[in-house]
Amino acid sequence: MAKRVGILTGGGDCPGLNPAIRGCVMKGQEFGFEFVGLVEGWKGLVEGITMPLSVDDVKEIISKGGTILGTSRTNPYKKEGGVQKCLDNIKKLKLDALVALGGEDTLGVATKLYKEHKVNVVGVPKTMDNDLSATDYTFGFDTSVTIAVDAAGRLKDTGKSHRRIMVLEVMGRHAGWVALFTGIAAASDWTLLPEQKVSEQDVEKMCQHLRKVHERDKVALVVISEGVKLPGADAGKEELDEFGHMILRKRGIAQQLCDVIEKKTSIETRSAVIGHMQRGGPPTLFDRILGTRVGYKAAELVNEGNFGKMVAQRGMDIVPVPLEEATGELKVVTSDWMKLMETFFK
Ligand code: F6P
Repeated sequence: MAKRVGILTGGGDCPGLNPAIRGCVMKGQEFGFEFVGLVEGWKGLVEGITMPLSVDDVKEIISKGGTILGTSRTNPYKKEGGVQKCLDNIKKLKLDALVALGGEDTLGVATKLYKEHKVNVVGVPKTMDNDLSATDYTFGFDTSVTIAVDAAGRLKDTGKSHRRIMVLEVMGRHAGWVALFTGIAAASDWTLLPEQKVSEQDVEKMCQHLRKVHERDKVALVVISEGVKLPGADAGKEELDEFGHMILRKRGIAQQLCDVIEKKTSIETRSAVIGHMQRGGPPTLFDRILGTRVGYKAAELVNEGNFGKMVAQRGMDIVPVPLEEATGELKVVTSDWMKLMETFFK
């Protein structure tokens, strides 16, 4: 039976979304599906805003950054009558199934719609943070870390010329995977993650180490995750989004750290924030293939009527897992990873 399938992308964008949309639409065509693009995440379903999504629309998008569907952090559960509007629009648009591409927030909504209202939904994990529990990797992560590692190398070059300590701030508000991988791959001299509780003594220890490294190498590199809290720092009044997450862009943690390091070491220190540059641009090979595979698998699950699932990478395989498993708990950096990271602060 031919099916009408709605697709949406919610939350922060990341490279790999377009390959995933393409994978789903092109596989779905083999099953005779007709796709409806829901524009800007859950907002598109709440407000009934759609765009056409045929094979012709997606054929050439594998190398494109961003998402052709647009995205938002709209939470239907936080909008007056939002959930009912979603249900009404599913009927109005004659959607037999929904494919939701997103992180813990977008998929959290998908889980609730499936459990509470029996909406036929399949989830596709995406996030540059790589912090979804039920999958080994999410697309977006490889590209954003690749960009951050490149930026770190550039910072080190200019830092060395000027005999400075350089601080690079990368994204990651609750999970430090991006900072961890960037730090290891760029051979940083110190890396700070949101999972760590940073004490005054830790800052002291870091500064002593940076002094030693700077004396030896004429430069030192620090990578810090945007979600780190420094001791004594004034976090200010943090703005929250519709999912209750802090909007961190106004905090400037890298500059705060820069000031602390400069004061304690008396070495000239500069900071840089890579920010959204990490989320744009063409996806890497890894993210193109992973995006394609999870999108393809999502179309298969819709065809099988295997709803309430998220497609996950487990080892080399793409498998269905219950949506709940994916959204129950955030995957954060473990102490084993931290030990490995610290080995290279020499
Ligand atoms: O979606 C994940 C993420 O990239 C986080 O690492 C970051 O804190 C946040 O999005 C930034 O969101 P926005 O694009 O809304 O500023």
